[in-house]
Amino acid sequence: MFCTRKVNDQVIWVGASDRRLAKFENLFPVPRGVSYNSYLILDDKTALMDTVDADVADRFLENVAATLDARALDYIVVQHMEPDHAATLARVLERYPDAQVVCNAKTLDMIGRFFPSLQLRSPMIVKDGDTLALGERTLQFVFAPMVHWPEVMVSYERKDKILFSADAFGSFGAIDGALFDDEADFDMEWKDDARRYYVNIVGKYGAPVQTLLKKAAGLDIRTICPLHGLVWRKDLAKIVELYRKWSSYEPEERGVLIAYASMYGNTQNLAELLACRLADRGVRALRVCDISVTDMSELTAHAFRYSHMILLSPTYNGELYPQMETFLSDLRRLALRARTVALCDNGAWAATAAKQMRTQLETFKDFRILDAQIGIRSALRADDLSAVQALVDQIVESME
Ligand code: FEO
Repeated sequence: MFCTRKVNDQVIWVGASDRRLAKFENLFPVPRGVSYNSYLILDDKTALMDTVDADVADRFLENVAATLDARALDYIVVQHMEPDHAATLARVLERYPDAQVVCNAKTLDMIGRFFPSLQLRSPMIVKDGDTLALGERTLQFVFAPMVHWPEVMVSYERKDKILFSADAFGSFGAIDGALFDDEADFDMEWKDDARRYYVNIVGKYGAPVQTLLKKAAGLDIRTICPLHGLVWRKDLAKIVELYRKWSSYEPEERGVLIAYASMYGNTQNLAELLACRLADRGVRALRVCDISVTDMSELTAHAFRYSHMILLSPTYNGELYPQMETFLSDLRRLALRARTVALCDNGAWAATAAKQMRTQLETFKDFRILDAQIGIRSALRADDLSAVQALVDQIVESME
């Protein structure tokens, strides 16, 4: 049965949620599922804003048919042709063969690469700033390359002042009926997934996101309709401010991510001792993560969230513990910058993990690596406590 929500009487959400997908992009766990948003505009002309992933195609096609209610589909606007939004394009065109695809030249080229058997009849190729009149409503296309792929554009609808924002301002998480930000508790239920989505999907592309934010600042936007997650119609400033921080690599809060690897529990002992001593000193934003069991997408999101990190790694076959190597490599890939880091290592012999982490992190932009460092030799001993105290002192001083 079709299942839609009204953004307003003429703009209808016709998307669907996948609650069975294990990993988005086959990389990022989505235990709360993920929504693929699509919107149908009903004016003198009808326009479908993107399609959806193949896994939810049947429900989506029901939604479109019920919303059109026997009207013709005039346009399909392809803002972003990644298959989570374009995989159903062919099925839509089978049902509505007279619909005209509206996209830019790069999108058209990429559609040909991903879907070589799909022949588009007379697509409308638009340029940055072009408009499409639908009746009372007019779409204005704003190119947003690398948010998240090079062909991405967003669309501003002038009458209702809606920004159809493609991947920007989206989130992991299925829609639990509540589609709008004022119907859901974003801070409690969505923020962590919105951050994890941002960091891992577009985190690397801070500068293009900032460019889009500047373009958006010149538009009078009352509603943001992204391709994933909540529709924003009340507290738009909240998600825009988060995007400003995330895209400028500014931490959300002064706090410490303590990320450790521990083979036998001794490095964990040090991680927890550091957390307790920092809490004693009044640090309230603390997160201790075992990197062997915490998903990398979550660790990277924590790294974007907090101002500080303490990284603890055993030396393993003369190298870093493998998951720590992966974590550092992910942070480099996502271009994280401007964090304060303290290092600890463990090794029964030839411990070099802290030195290796320092060498890597010295190449990260605007990272401050504290001098205080702890090296334990298998288990913590009483004579390690002065080093623990010194490291805690440096962390606290650096937060002032
Ligand atoms: Fe949701 Fe870049 O696709």
